[in-house]
Amino acid sequence: MPTSSADEAGRPMPHLLVDGLSAGYGGAPIVHEASARAGLGEIVTIVGPNGAGKSTFLKAVAGMIPALAGKVRLAGEDVTNMRANHLARRGLGYVPQVNDVFDTLTVADNLAMGGYLLKRNEIGERTEKVMEVFPALKRMLNRTASKLSGGERKMLAMARVLMLEPSLLVLDEPTSNLSADLSRVVLEEHVSRLGESGAAVLIVEQKAQAALAISDWAYVMAGGVIRISSAAGDLLARKDLAEVFLGRSTGDGEVPKAS
Ligand SMILES: Nc1ncnc2c1ncn2[C@@H]1O[C@H](COP(=O)(O)OP(=O)(O)OP(=O)(O)O)[C@@H](O)[C@H]1O
Ligand SMILES: [Mg+2]
Repeated sequence: MPTSSADEAGRPMPHLLVDGLSAGYGGAPIVHEASARAGLGEIVTIVGPNGAGKSTFLKAVAGMIPALAGKVRLAGEDVTNMRANHLARRGLGYVPQVNDVFDTLTVADNLAMGGYLLKRNEIGERTEKVMEVFPALKRMLNRTASKLSGGERKMLAMARVLMLEPSLLVLDEPTSNLSADLSRVVLEEHVSRLGESGAAVLIVEQKAQAALAISDWAYVMAGGVIRISSAAGDLLARKDLAEVFLGRSTGDGEVPKAS
């Protein structure tokens, strides 16, 4: 198993390995040569200020926008610039920051759409399994997604990608628009359970403290650049945490220039 061996930092072998990735819109890079990794069973969080390029980075990893430079490897295979549906076949489940469910469809149909690569007779079986992870969705199967609360909707968005049993989950702000209390529930119960199930989990979160508390590793991105790569607990323990999150401090006395 790849998880049995570890590198010098004690991290599992990378299931996702991003090396020097540059990405942006219309050919102009916003993310510059960013490197990150996530091993099976590992929860990895990217934090950083608004507009830092976190979603852009995730979109390039998930095949939604092209990589302008660098490499993305998944389970040892070079998947750079592979289209999103091919990545889904290889085990990547991506939950975007917005438009994460189909508003006009019922919960059950959203789940069926999430299982679009499955055979028709497998969908019921997988839906049952996903309901075991998110039992609250059981009584909402016939409800239209637009009528769900913010928390229920986030649950559905995660359940939808679980339909294909991904080995890598890429979650862009799984707690956006949720109260502090509900965010903690989503992170502590749902996201950490995804890690415990053995998948590699890469998340972007604004609620940095709560996210770091359930994470193994963390990256700080500011100005399109990864400024810090650190064990999540070490980052959480830092006195200059607030400055770090804003990308204003690397913690070693150096204040990076705005870029
Ligand atoms: N579709 C797009 N076309 C052009 N520019 C974009 C597009 N999406 C984002 N950008 C720009 O790219 C930069 C980085 O945006 P991105 O969404 O990656 O930031 P972020 O770190 O996810 O921010 P937030 O925390 O607010 O979600 C911003 O300046 C943004 O305006
Ligand atoms: Mg974003």
